[in-house]
Amino acid sequence: MTKIEIDHSLALAVARAPSPARDEPFGVYVHWPFCRAKCPYCDFNSHVRHGGIDEARFLTAYLEELVHFAALAPARKVTSIFFGGGTPSLMRPNTVAAMIDAVALHWALESDAEITLEANPTSAEAANFAGYRTAGINRLSLGVQALDDASLKALGRQHTAAEALAALALAKRYFGRVSFDLIYAREGQTEFAWREELTRALDHAADHLSLYQLTVEEGTPFAARHAAGTLRIPDSADAHALYLLTQELCEAAGLPAYEVSNHARPGSESRHNLLYWRGHDYAGIGPGAHSRVTANGTKRALSTTKSPEAWLAQVETSGHGIESDEDLSGEEAAEEYLLMGLRLSEGIDLARLAAIGGRALDAARIDALAREGLVERNGTRLAATPQGRLVLNSLILELAA
Ligand SMILES: C[S@@+](CC[C@H](N)C(=O)[O-])C[C@H]1O[C@@H](n2cnc3c(N)ncnc32)[C@H](O)[C@@H]1O
Ligand code: SF4
Repeated sequence: MTKIEIDHSLALAVARAPSPARDEPFGVYVHWPFCRAKCPYCDFNSHVRHGGIDEARFLTAYLEELVHFAALAPARKVTSIFFGGGTPSLMRPNTVAAMIDAVALHWALESDAEITLEANPTSAEAANFAGYRTAGINRLSLGVQALDDASLKALGRQHTAAEALAALALAKRYFGRVSFDLIYAREGQTEFAWREELTRALDHAADHLSLYQLTVEEGTPFAARHAAGTLRIPDSADAHALYLLTQELCEAAGLPAYEVSNHARPGSESRHNLLYWRGHDYAGIGPGAHSRVTANGTKRALSTTKSPEAWLAQVETSGHGIESDEDLSGEEAAEEYLLMGLRLSEGIDLARLAAIGGRALDAARIDALAREGLVERNGTRLAATPQGRLVLNSLILELAA
């Protein structure tokens, strides 16, 4: 995460974040770290275990860690659960059901809670959709990534475009809410090609789309090819043009961006993802999961051990896999709220930011950025414009300086 420089010369009365109201959203994230194959662009905490895994033993550990987090963040009302990965659609529906039941047992699970599962669109995984619905999943997020077989092959995917579209059609039958992911600014992708692909994607879209610009992540096979000059992806000017085209097409189709990479029909935004960007609390269960839990006015940042087997052993001996647990200062919590909140088109609440961090942003600096067309102020709210979101990191540095 980008570290924002904040003027430490200001004597800060570090106003701690207030204790969360009982009715503030609270989410549970469950990380399933296994995949059929490792995609060459991906640096998520995901692992291939050719010999298989002991799913029942892992489930026992997840349930145990859940009890630990319920004690750390007691009496919260869970508004969303998100099964992310890795590939959670490799889990048996019974495993998913047991985890949802445990969340409902240890916290109050709202009757209309959003319960999302990330799925890869192979036909084998689509065969589980009915079981996931019975387990309680009401929103599916499919990793389609591209709509032509040559691109899917180049991305190292285990499914064809036809398989992905069939999985999408099936998902729409089983789940009230369906999203899918595409990656753009891929190798050799022109504006013309992306216009055609995104137009087709919008024809298939349900209520939500995640459109990610390809990031070359350090340590991945794509990074090695990029360094060797054999991965020819659009340069930053071309990628910016693709981003602006994305905004234009999605807006025209009624799925405007509500976050840098996320588009939804109004009212169909992912409640779970909004909770992160709005700075609310969540418990993250499983290997390499992150949590934010506020207690006694202080926000704690926790994360668990990344290696699945090491996490499993730790839970079996200690009841949890927590590897780091730090209190965030008011300044750090404010930095985080600024970083996350400006990704949203609704932006941030300046009064809340000042309450968290103990100081207000510089009004003259905001005015200067507004004159450049990079931010918009509306009462106590501040948002980045689409142009501003293109240079978000430097914008945040400028605001926080
Ligand atoms: C954690 S992945 C899990 C989803 C699921 N395993 C799959 O691959 O469909 C979530 C999404 O992140 C996106 N993603 C992962 N690595 C990326 C990268 N290097 N650049 C852009 N998007 C990426 C993909 O669109 C992917 O669907
Ligand atoms: S993109 Fe998805 S399937 Fe591919 S390695 Fe990453 S998490 Fe696994």
